[in-house]
Amino acid sequence: LFLGLDVGTSGVKAILVAPGGDVVASATTPLRMSTPRPGWAEQDPEAWWQASVAALRDVLAQRPDDSVAAVGISGQMHSSVFLDRAGQVIRPALLWCDGRTTAECDEITRRAGGEDRLRDWVMNAALEGFTLPKVLWLRRHEPDAYARVATVLLAKDFIRYRLTGVLATEPSDASGTLMFDPARLRWSDELLAAVDVPRALLPDVGGSSDVLGRVTGEAAAACGLAEGTSVVGGGADNACGAAGVGVVAPGEAVASWGTSGTVLAPTARPVVDPGLRAHTFCHVVPNVWYVMGVVLSAGGAFSWYREQFARELASPGASARLDAEAASVPRGAEGVTFLPYLQGERTPHRDASARGALLGLSLAHTRAHTTRAVLEGVSFALRDSVSILQSLGLAPASLLLTGGGAKSPFVRTLQAEVYGLPVQTVNREEGPAYGAALLGAVGVGAFADLAAAGKATLTRSALEHPDPAAHRAYDDVYARFRASYAAAQPAA
Ligand code: XUL
Repeated sequence: LFLGLDVGTSGVKAILVAPGGDVVASATTPLRMSTPRPGWAEQDPEAWWQASVAALRDVLAQRPDDSVAAVGISGQMHSSVFLDRAGQVIRPALLWCDGRTTAECDEITRRAGGEDRLRDWVMNAALEGFTLPKVLWLRRHEPDAYARVATVLLAKDFIRYRLTGVLATEPSDASGTLMFDPARLRWSDELLAAVDVPRALLPDVGGSSDVLGRVTGEAAAACGLAEGTSVVGGGADNACGAAGVGVVAPGEAVASWGTSGTVLAPTARPVVDPGLRAHTFCHVVPNVWYVMGVVLSAGGAFSWYREQFARELASPGASARLDAEAASVPRGAEGVTFLPYLQGERTPHRDASARGALLGLSLAHTRAHTTRAVLEGVSFALRDSVSILQSLGLAPASLLLTGGGAKSPFVRTLQAEVYGLPVQTVNREEGPAYGAALLGAVGVGAFADLAAAGKATLTRSALEHPDPAAHRAYDDVYARFRASYAAAQPAA
């Protein structure tokens, strides 16, 4: 069997995949995110490890007679793990959706010599969520902690470190740090020198499907894997999520609703959005890159809404009840607009201080309207990213859907109508964990490469085509959504 582990923001998920591709066991351990101040977001890497151990023990106990040939790990991108010389965690990680580093982003852009330089060196703008600004924040605000930092790691690489004792990363996650040159596939000595961050803090970069370490005796005793089990490079959750639905080659695109929402299109060479509103990162397939728009609160906005306004609905089943309520009111929610910028926004606004809003309310409106507005608002935010990909000549003929918004028939249709594109899903709903498991399978030679792995294990659903009249109806509502952004931001 192949084991896929995904270190997400709302939980750690472990799955076991049989050689033919079937998922034969699955376990999830929930995680909480702490927001010590508005716009901040932290998690303790120790909590990721404890949740990983629990999920691993649980999933392995479901198949006590089977052995695991390889482990692949995916994880939330950008989040900063600071380790001291003994490999101990120094402080909680600043997460991908943490917005506290605006001053550090300005500093990076200034010290680099402007955004054109950043484009040349690392192909991306300095945005609050990326890792480098977090390193500079620590240096400025917690100098004692910074002085102890020996290694900066990413979430899934920290879990591999705990499993194998090996400090390493791979291109799909390295390219999200703003310290890696995605074109030349090496750490950017130029930018590191400009901001005076030592290259020695960064781990070596291996291949996403290469075996980078083996489970130690100590980790084996903790989590139940056999000592010596191969652990591959793995990948960023978005790249693994794309691989998990077979989106590994140019010409296709995937829209994902996790805590964040993303729209990602692979490319045969690095393509950069002139406005740097979308990101350019390495895929988990060698010599493939992707452009990705990121909505910071997608499933996260819906979870927040459900928790605040629909707590009495029993889970599981709460989302389906809310879908049914939303379906009972017309497209456009009779004038109610939701902006999902609860944690700032990357694409397209590049504004960590952006805030969410519910607009257009009247006494005639009900929760059905606000629920519909939330689902529409998240879809409109993702449509902004679809439009950017289209403007770059990366117009997909259809979109693969994955994550929460792919599981609900109502939200699938809503997305097709809002984007004006046919949508489809695959027969595996495990998201990044599935792509990670496939990377493990490739790493030990079970498949020649990820494309072959996908071909052997994934089946696509029929395309669901949007009703053209419904798409046209949404054009006006989308225009209202777009126009609301500037108007709805709180006065400084
Ligand atoms: C991507 C990003 C998020 C996280 C979510 O740039 O920040 O999608 O990867 O885990």
